[in-house]
Amino acid sequence: MTDLIRIVYISRATFATSNPADGVEPTVSRILSTSRTNNRKHGLVGMLYYGDGCFFQCLEGETSKVQTLYKTLLKDSRHKDLKILASEPIKRLSFPDWSMKYVPVDQHMRKLLEEHGFEQFDPYRFDHHLVERVMQLLQGVPDPTIPPVEGRASPPARTLLAPGLAAQPDSPPSANGSAKLSLAISIAALVISVITLLLVLSRL
Ligand SMILES: Cc1cc2nc3c(=O)[nH]c(=O)nc-3n(C[C@H](O)[C@H](O)[C@H](O)COP(=O)(O)O)c2cc1C
Repeated sequence: MTDLIRIVYISRATFATSNPADGVEPTVSRILSTSRTNNRKHGLVGMLYYGDGCFFQCLEGETSKVQTLYKTLLKDSRHKDLKILASEPIKRLSFPDWSMKYVPVDQHMRKLLEEHGFEQFDPYRFDHHLVERVMQLLQGVPDPTIPPVEGRASPPARTLLAPGLAAQPDSPPSANGSAKLSLAISIAALVISVITLLLVLSRL
């Protein structure tokens, strides 16, 4: 059986961040495009987060291939200060469907950071618990750079996360709401039928 590994590392972008209309920094877009082509070729998967000038990337796949890629990453001048936060053998992939999922800053991340007293995405100050929470969040949100079918949220975390920590939907499903609407429509139809019947009877 192939030995699989996951590494999570962080780094600082060396390029200035603009605020492009579509929300994806052009340099990050190019990195994603190369990553997706190369990773597909090498059977690697993962996720890349970019916010406040920092990268947070998870790479998974065959140990030797992940290690080779990491050596390449160390030499890439588009980022610096690479720091490995986690490196561990895994049995299954957390991002099996993603050659490289991309997640930009969004309100969920902002909320999580606020809850932990952060004003910015500063992964160099994250503790182990927050790294896990960030990973959960990133697994659960869709990728805006991929059309809806592929850009769906990843399936619930299968390997990394402790049971009970999986991200919860923002609001519970509204099956209750649609049942109430059906009931209201039925009652209105009944009232209209009774009124019509009374009108007909009153003319007889
Ligand atoms: C933050 C960051 C993440 C990257 N992630 C990947 C990746 O997942 N896979 C990949 O092949 N290259 C990735 N790259 C690009 C590599 O450093 C390198 O430029 C690329 O692999 C070279 O590919 P090429 O030989 O096809 O030109 C990343 C670069 C940066 C700055």
